[in-house]
Amino acid sequence: MHCENNDQSLTNGFAKQSIRDKEALCVLFCMKENVGALAEALRIFKEFGVNLSHIESRSSKRFSDDYEFLIEIDTHSESANIDKALANLQEITTYMQIISREPRGKESVPWFPVKIKEIDRFANHVLSYGSELDADHPGFKDPVYRERRKYFADLAFNYKHGQPLPRVDYTDEEIGTWRAVYNQLTGLYPTHACREHNHIFPLMIENCGYGPDNIPQLEDVSNFLKDCTGFTLRPVAGLLTSRDFLAGLAFRVFHSTQYIRHASVPLYTPEPDICHELLGHAPLFADPAFAQFSQEIGLASLGAPDEYIEKLATCYWFTVEFGICRQDGQIKAYGAGLLSSFGELQYCLTDKPEIRPFDPHVTAEQKYPITEYQPIYFLAESFEKAKEKLREFAFSIPRPFTVRYNSYTQSIEILDRKNQLEELVRTIKGEMEILNDAIRKIQ
Ligand SMILES: [Fe+2]
Repeated sequence: MHCENNDQSLTNGFAKQSIRDKEALCVLFCMKENVGALAEALRIFKEFGVNLSHIESRSSKRFSDDYEFLIEIDTHSESANIDKALANLQEITTYMQIISREPRGKESVPWFPVKIKEIDRFANHVLSYGSELDADHPGFKDPVYRERRKYFADLAFNYKHGQPLPRVDYTDEEIGTWRAVYNQLTGLYPTHACREHNHIFPLMIENCGYGPDNIPQLEDVSNFLKDCTGFTLRPVAGLLTSRDFLAGLAFRVFHSTQYIRHASVPLYTPEPDICHELLGHAPLFADPAFAQFSQEIGLASLGAPDEYIEKLATCYWFTVEFGICRQDGQIKAYGAGLLSSFGELQYCLTDKPEIRPFDPHVTAEQKYPITEYQPIYFLAESFEKAKEKLREFAFSIPRPFTVRYNSYTQSIEILDRKNQLEELVRTIKGEMEILNDAIRKIQ
């Protein structure tokens, strides 16, 4: 919930500007930390009849005693009233800044990054900062753990694209927690994990420092993945919105936590932690077909309407997080939520859950619990087939343009002009000639 690189520091009249462009009007502000701070701000918007479509909050990074809020204003409200409300708000805030995501040509298309560096613009728009724990979190009453979580959140918060990923000296207690999880899970992988995971895992031991006595560094894992498929990791300070998280995948960037769960219950975590990321997610991102599948979800999300973001996030849930597949007539797990959970990895292969074939049109509509084992899993015949189905589903998403990833420039090409299509034809023709030549030589 924070915006770097804000190039608009407008004061009066900013609301009118935003309304003219029909863009989302987001405002970031700080107030002195007190019980009624947000209520006081909300009262102003109520008074002027201005609707808010989104509210986020956290302790301020700028001013240690303040509280920081991000609100999104419904720009259908009367523009004069928005101006008045913002002017009133400015009087009671210690800091206020307008964050507007500019529309990309078509008014109805939500903003999305087109260059990999632009991920910096949303990477800190987190829904909860890493050190803010719920009352039922195992580390809630542990001040040392909370301080440690703040340390990790700050590391991620200060990270910028292109920098080396921060290296962490994990404590003995943290390594002990990792060891407990690592030993339990690696005992199950040979029989429960998919072929790709079992193929890649020894390579992670060899190249990335995986082992019971060492928590691998994100930098080492990221470099390894980059060599395999071009995927990279990026530390994240809290929970991203689905839209932002999926946009990262379009660039083969995976937002990863770096802290570890609380030591009191090593086999349980209410949120993703480094065990989940490195044991569950990371190995599969080294597989070319899985990497391509993951990127397809990301590319499909760029500029998609909100309801389709939800559908894609649901597909992501039932594949990248909780996917199972059939290999040599047996069902195996490939989802990170399964591969990082000692209990659910065993449960998912029993006859208790219901298994349905993965079909994005159907899977996207399925509701799911987030705090218990999944009652339903979707089975992919292969990552290749899942990718094809997902790509076909992506074509049904209403977008006035097609996107394509340019891996040379690490940017998104928006194919909405004739000369771009001609260039694409030339590229494909060149690739076809290489293919023909290779086939001829093999024969
Ligand atoms: Fe995950």
